[in-house]
Amino acid sequence: MFTKKTVKDLNVKGKRVLVRVDYNVPLTSGGKIEDDYRITQSLPTLQYLLDKGAAIILCSHLGRPEGKVVPSMSLLPVAKRLHELLKLPVEFANDCVGPETLEKAQALKPGQILLLENVRFHPEEEANDKKFAKELAALADVFVQDAFGVVHHGAVSVSGLPKLLPSAAGLLLAKEVDTITKVMREPERPMVAVVGGAKIADKIDILKKFIEMADMVAIGGAMANTFLKATGVDVAKSLVDDGELQIAKDIMAQAQSEAKERDFVFFLPRDGVVAQKADKNTPTRIVDWGALAVADIEHYPKRVPASASKVAANEKILDIGPFSGAFIAGSLQLAGTVIWNGTMGMAEVAGTQGPVGPYAHGTELIMEGMLGDFGHKPFSVVGGGDTVAYVQSRGLTDSFNHVSTGGGASLELMAGRKLPGITALEDK
Ligand code: ADP
Ligand code: 3PG
Ligand code: MG
Repeated sequence: MFTKKTVKDLNVKGKRVLVRVDYNVPLTSGGKIEDDYRITQSLPTLQYLLDKGAAIILCSHLGRPEGKVVPSMSLLPVAKRLHELLKLPVEFANDCVGPETLEKAQALKPGQILLLENVRFHPEEEANDKKFAKELAALADVFVQDAFGVVHHGAVSVSGLPKLLPSAAGLLLAKEVDTITKVMREPERPMVAVVGGAKIADKIDILKKFIEMADMVAIGGAMANTFLKATGVDVAKSLVDDGELQIAKDIMAQAQSEAKERDFVFFLPRDGVVAQKADKNTPTRIVDWGALAVADIEHYPKRVPASASKVAANEKILDIGPFSGAFIAGSLQLAGTVIWNGTMGMAEVAGTQGPVGPYAHGTELIMEGMLGDFGHKPFSVVGGGDTVAYVQSRGLTDSFNHVSTGGGASLELMAGRKLPGITALEDK
């Protein structure tokens, strides 16, 4: 249960409410919003505050401008989109602090909205500067945190403002925390974690956590390459985290000892889609290395005859292969809960005939398995910036039970870490 105050515990009538939102949305080079999921997910909180007679000041970051004004990271396109979505005027302030902004904020009437320019244009944001915090706090009467994607950081707009203003969580933040905490605490079993993406380093804690608590952990993506290399599979030119080979071995040892004690499966892909270059026109091959990386884990189908092949010296593994995809998707048909983070391959490379490219089939199979296309639909949770972007690009966001707006934040919450942006808020 969420133990912090939420907007529903506040009296906001006639007040100016500073809402920290996560409008860190992907933009094209022409400044077009590619994916507005984070904006649409913030609307219930905004609508609630407007209905209760508040004036809203919105504060967000976009990208990592590192304390400098970077025009391509301006939030102005977001103001336009927000206006379209809310069908209300949205004022924009060219700086998140300063006399002009203060004036604009003070002039706001109930029902009006002001979006502040990128808070990370000021180095003071991430340096936790006290004076900057006071300047931001001076804009409003109340602070609402709704930027789930940033609550794992310490920054002025995350952990600083709740020290200076009465504070509460927004509806999105509360929903994210409630859903993720509940699924980690009491998942419908069997619980399967599907983990892919690029780097092990970002996901060590969550892997360990899943190995402790899930019934099956299936690995894909470039992350699998590092595990495979650690077991001696020649992955040739594949993307590998060479600095993490020992960690990969330690994680596999943990998986192995878990599997000795209880019913637990740690699945590494046994085949892959390879090519010399990650583009849609390069010919691909399916390679089945047949090696069972963690072969003595009992439940693994022992040595399915392999067409035994090798990744050639000039090739890289860019997706899990059909056997591995089908094996994982099939396992999902027995699952009560599936938590998925990280694509199974370079799914974002579009195809020659449509959006699904040559390295997206593993990811597509996982989604089909999670969404009930094979008959059974487990409770499904998706997290991770690139993963969610892919789901969104396929128009499937509404089909999952929960699609998190957080990347790092959702992983840290799942791993059981305390998140400073939540700790800082007032208790109920
Ligand atoms: P998320 O943001 O969802 O947590 P990550 O950032 O960890 O996911 O990883 C996503 C990235 O992983 C994608 O951009 C994809 O290109 C990359 N990736 C997945 N599989 C491979 C692979 N086999 N080789 C190279 N890159 C891969
Ligand atoms: C995200 O995209 O995960 C959040 O907006 C946080 O962004 P950051 O990783 O740059 O802090
Ligand atoms: Mg990512």
